[in-house]
Amino acid sequence: ADTTVYRASTTAPVNIAVVKYWGKRDAKLNLPTNSSISVTLSQADLRTLTTASCSTIFTSDSLTLNGEDSDISGARTQACFRELRARRAALEEKDASLPKLAALPLKIVSENNFPTAAGLASSAAGFAALVQAIANLYQLPDSPSELSKFARQGSGSACRSLFGGYVAWRMGEKEDGSDSLADLVAPASHWPSMRALILVASAAKKGVSSSSGMQQTVASSGLFQERIKTIVPANMDLMEDAIKNHDFEKFAEVTMRDSNSFHACCADTYPPIYYMNDTSRAAVRAVEAINAKAGKTIAAYTFDAGPNCVVYYLDENKDAVLGGFADALKAVSGFEQGAVAAVAGVIDET
Ligand code: PMV
Repeated sequence: ADTTVYRASTTAPVNIAVVKYWGKRDAKLNLPTNSSISVTLSQADLRTLTTASCSTIFTSDSLTLNGEDSDISGARTQACFRELRARRAALEEKDASLPKLAALPLKIVSENNFPTAAGLASSAAGFAALVQAIANLYQLPDSPSELSKFARQGSGSACRSLFGGYVAWRMGEKEDGSDSLADLVAPASHWPSMRALILVASAAKKGVSSSSGMQQTVASSGLFQERIKTIVPANMDLMEDAIKNHDFEKFAEVTMRDSNSFHACCADTYPPIYYMNDTSRAAVRAVEAINAKAGKTIAAYTFDAGPNCVVYYLDENKDAVLGGFADALKAVSGFEQGAVAAVAGVIDET
């Protein structure tokens, strides 16, 4: 029998949303209640490295994450495996000379170089890397937008990590999810001075998973209805214009307002959900102090489903922003030493 081990590796970057995805209209297919926009951050500082292999010598599908066996029985992972296998099987059917990989057990080995599930978008990079690695292994001809539909079923935000630069996830309207996919707003080269400062307020696993947080928000927040009806659609338009026009002040204002709106909806659920903590709020004040001192908006904070802060700024303002934070953080206990000042750029290649 053929005992070849077929193998392909890839890295996938994290993305941090500036207009947030929060809420599912279909939890099974991960179809969102609103569109979103994110920035893809450079892989040197934040990335997942994944190797996918398949062979007759493996006995079953498996996934190792940071050296530990991971459960693959979950519907999300299964959906990714199933979709990618179906795509490979279709190719094999058309071309009989192709090795029959779709039927072989898959072995996935994945490593993050940043805290997993601490609100640093690890699931986004994780599922994007898983999908891209298997797509490479299977030599699928699909475009990043096509692959984003598979990654979306693993973790919603993962669909945006199939692209570099500035990326939109269009919510779509179809029930089968065929139009809920990511596309490119602008490549990284469009705005090369964009930077992200990652402030780790806590590397602990988050308290309320994004899935259950979303479910609770959709079910019990009245404010959320306003968010998806008017606030996010307006923010999507403003943000796309800000990016196209290199308008940092607008980009920053929409980023901060959208983060505030998302966390306000979380606080509006019953019972309330608080992802931000005292350290997060100190970071908000630090950004405000930096902007006040500059006399204009040169820094923008944003928070995902956890206390860690990402601050967007332009490289020309790095002294004011990094210096301002160094001053502010001296007064704040709670930021984890050493991990405090990871700086990432925006990248194109994923
Ligand atoms: O992809 P998920 O299910 O982990 O949800 C991510 C949600 C946020 O990070 C809070 C927002 C976003 O758009 O990434």
